[in-house]
This record gives sequence, structure tokens and C-alpha cells, in this order.
Amino acid sequence: MVSSEAAPLAKTGGLADVVGALPAALQTLGDEVAVVIPRYGFIDLKTARRVWDRLPIFLGPARYDVTIYLAPEEFPLYLIDCPELFDRKGLYGEGGVDYPDNHIRFALFTRAALGVARFLFRTEIFHCHDWQSGLLPPYLRTTFAGDPTFLGVKTLFTIHNLGYRGLFLPSAVAQTALDPALYRPAGLEFYGQLSYIKGGIVFADAVNTVSPTYAKEIQTPEYGFGLDGALRSRANVLYGILNGVDYREWSPENDPFIPAKFSPQDLSGKRVCKARVLEEFGLPASAISAPLIGVVSRFAVQKGADLIAQVASAIVDEGMYLIALGEGEPEYEDLFRAMAAQYPDRIAVHIGFDNALAHRVEAGADIFLMPSQYEPCGLNQMYSLKYGTVPVVRATGGLNDTIEEATGFKFSEYSAPALLTALRAARQAFSSETGWRAKVLRGMGQDFSWSRSAASYSALYRQLLG
Ligand code: ADP
Ligand code: GLC
Repeated sequence: MVSSEAAPLAKTGGLADVVGALPAALQTLGDEVAVVIPRYGFIDLKTARRVWDRLPIFLGPARYDVTIYLAPEEFPLYLIDCPELFDRKGLYGEGGVDYPDNHIRFALFTRAALGVARFLFRTEIFHCHDWQSGLLPPYLRTTFAGDPTFLGVKTLFTIHNLGYRGLFLPSAVAQTALDPALYRPAGLEFYGQLSYIKGGIVFADAVNTVSPTYAKEIQTPEYGFGLDGALRSRANVLYGILNGVDYREWSPENDPFIPAKFSPQDLSGKRVCKARVLEEFGLPASAISAPLIGVVSRFAVQKGADLIAQVASAIVDEGMYLIALGEGEPEYEDLFRAMAAQYPDRIAVHIGFDNALAHRVEAGADIFLMPSQYEPCGLNQMYSLKYGTVPVVRATGGLNDTIEEATGFKFSEYSAPALLTALRAARQAFSSETGWRAKVLRGMGQDFSWSRSAASYSALYRQLLG
């Protein structure tokens, strides 16, 4: 697996959760899996073993020498060390601004991953994730087309988020030593730019995305980000495989980050979690019996922050409270800060990335809000179900596939009135203690563990290998 993120070492979102958990589930099925990620500056190498010294990689006129480390995880995790490109604070940028050499960074990364497969872990399948590994299939099919090392090797490309297309200036073609013939509309060109995600979409042997609904949506202009045509032309090898949940990390029965454990048999700990999270966010203790809405999110246009801002006053009028944890685009951070400033006793936000706090929000809230514009899968709504926190979601992508009337509240139109109707229904339901409890318990009883999805991936690998 070639990925720019893997939990717990490098994470900005759900991609890391998936790549951190799926390999172990595949190993349980008997597959042998290794993962390759960049060695970002914040990844500690103390426990890692150096397994390859100064592998030279040529990108056009430039030469990079990378060192490869093997970290002791549940599965072999190879770290590509190239300090001049990856020893930085962020994964993709800082302060909301992308690093200007991301095209070089992730081209080099995929070339190094090919090196891992050549020298360290002979592979039959490259499973690539998102635009950061999108150049691997085209390199494989052009630059390395005649290379006996890779004879018969297949590629699967997983789209976790079509909104990030990996777009760069045409000059990147030469800088990354791509075959210039690839720069055409049927190849990697995207309206005058070079698109890394197209590398995966066009050149992988199979493509999948992370829920059945999103697999359909991305073939339409509304959700296709201009790539719907390219995706439709791969429809015969385009699959939707729902993500799973790693319940070893996300279960209120054994979560080390929450102040009191709870289970369907004994929910009393949830109230303790609620009291503590109210305190942690500086909201009044008297809020304990009112509905508490939780948000944990990358603050990006995808996640529907604008809708939340539009219903903030109605949330307050309805007697509900809101806590939000997130970071991302400064514009959305400001939006949340403004809501909290306007309703200091009712709405509180924590700007930042804090895994432990994410667990406490999941455990302490009554309602989990995810009004996404689009959502390839979404993991937080599934975590919420397990923590007895009833999801209110927009019926799109994986949200549509994982939440049903029995376990949550859905709305369709991307609008504040539609969201408000769903929130009011949740508020209404909350006022009936027995009805609410029944809904909570139905959610907690759902099983989204990885085993089923891992079996689907394993079957797809085998299908590709014939
Ligand atoms: P996405 O990948 O689009 O961000 P997902 O719902 O698939 O959405 O996954 C998000 C993951 O990132 C979850 O594990 C969630 O808990 C975590 N997360 C998002 N924002 C934060 C944050 N500010 N602090 C801690 N964890 C966060
Ligand atoms: C992306 C998507 C999210 C999905 C995650 C893992 O970041 O936005 O919906 O759950 O990847 O596949």
C-alpha cells in the first residue's frame, strides 16, 4: 500500500485511519501487506531500522538519495526518508498554504515506493491511495513498462476524496520526469494542468472509492469535480467498498481517552463523559440534560461548516448546545470562532488537531453532526454510532450508506432549512427518554468492523491477478 498517511504516525483525516487498520485486517485473511509512507520530520525514527541506504532517484536533472526505514508496526511499514522534501512541520503544507514543491515530493515518493518493491518487499499488487500516490500507475506503465521486476504486477487505486485532484503546472511533467506523451486529455492533463489523481484513475488496473453511493456519485457532474467523464470511462472496473472501523481504537468499552467507560448494557458512563466534555469546553454544567451536539471535522468546504453557521442561532433557540473540534481553512476556523463568541454559554469550539479530545467529543455528545456537501465515506458517523451518539447527516456518499432512520437522522437537500428540519426531529426525539435510548442502542449494536471490507479488497486483489 502506497499512502501519504497512516495512523498513528501521520494523520490529517480518515485516510490515515484506513491505511492504519486495513493491512492488519487483510493479514487476518492471509494476505501479506506492507505499507509505504513518507518519513515526515515529526516521525520518530528511534525504534525504526534502516533497511536501505541512499537509494538514488532521478527526477529529470535532479537526483535525490533516499534512505528507507522499517518501523515496527503490526505490518511492515516502510518510511521514505528524504529530509530536504519531507522534514517539515506539515504533511502537505502549513498555515493553510500548500508546499510549492508538492509535485516533486509526491512524485519522488511514488518512485521510492517502486524502489521498496524492487529491493525490499516483492509485490504483486500496488494498492495506491489518493492523488499523492497517483503517479505510481503511470510510472509503472511507461517509465518501467519493460522492467522485468514488475512483470504481471497489478495496481488498484482507491479514491478517498475526489476533491483533491493533485493539480500542478504543466512544467511539472518535465520536473517529475514523466513521459511527455502522458500529458494529454486522455492521460494526465486536466484543463491545462497536470493532475496526479488522473494518473490513478486512468492507469490503474482497477479503481475503487470508499462507499457504494460515492462510487455512483463521482460519475455525475455534480460530484465529479470535472473527472466524472474519466471515471465513467472506467465504470467497468470502478467499485465502491465501504470503509470499516477499527473498534480497538474506537469503542467506549475500552477507550483510554474517555473519563468513564460504557457499553449497551450499562450506559451510565456516558453521562459522566458528557459532564466532563461540557467542562472541558467551558460550557455550563446545567447543560447536562439538554441535547449536546458534537462536531469533529477537518474544516474544509466539503464538511458543511457554512450550513452549521447558518443554523447556529436556531440551535440556541431550540435549547441545544454545540461543541466543535476542528482545524483547517482559516475561513472556517473564523466562522466557528465567531459562533462561539456570539453564544459563549451555548456554543464552544476548540481549534486544533487533538485525537484524545476527538474521542471525548464522540463519547460525551448526544448528537453528532455531519452535514457534508459530499462525503466519500466518513468515519466519524460510524464512531458515533458505537459511542451512542446519534448522527444527524446529509444523505450523501458513505453517510447515506451507513446511517438509516433507525439509527440517526438524514436530510437530502444541501440547505440550512433541510438541516434544521433534521436537527429539530433529533431534538424532538431526544425529549422521549425511552425512544432516544432505543435509537442509541440500535446504533451501538451496528457492526462496521473491517472484516467485511477487507474481504472485499482481498477478493478484488485476487480478481486483478486472475
Ligand atoms: P475526513 O477523512 O474527510 O477528514 P473522516 O470522517 O473519514 O473524514 O475521518 C476523519 C478522521 O480524522 C477521524 O478519525 C476524526 O476523528 C479525525 N479528525 C478530524 N479532525 C480532527 C481534529 N481536529 N482533531 C482530532 N481528530 C480529528
Ligand atoms: C476522505 C474522505 C472521508 C473518508 C476518508 C477515508 O478523507 O473525506 O469521507 O472516510 O477519506 O476513506
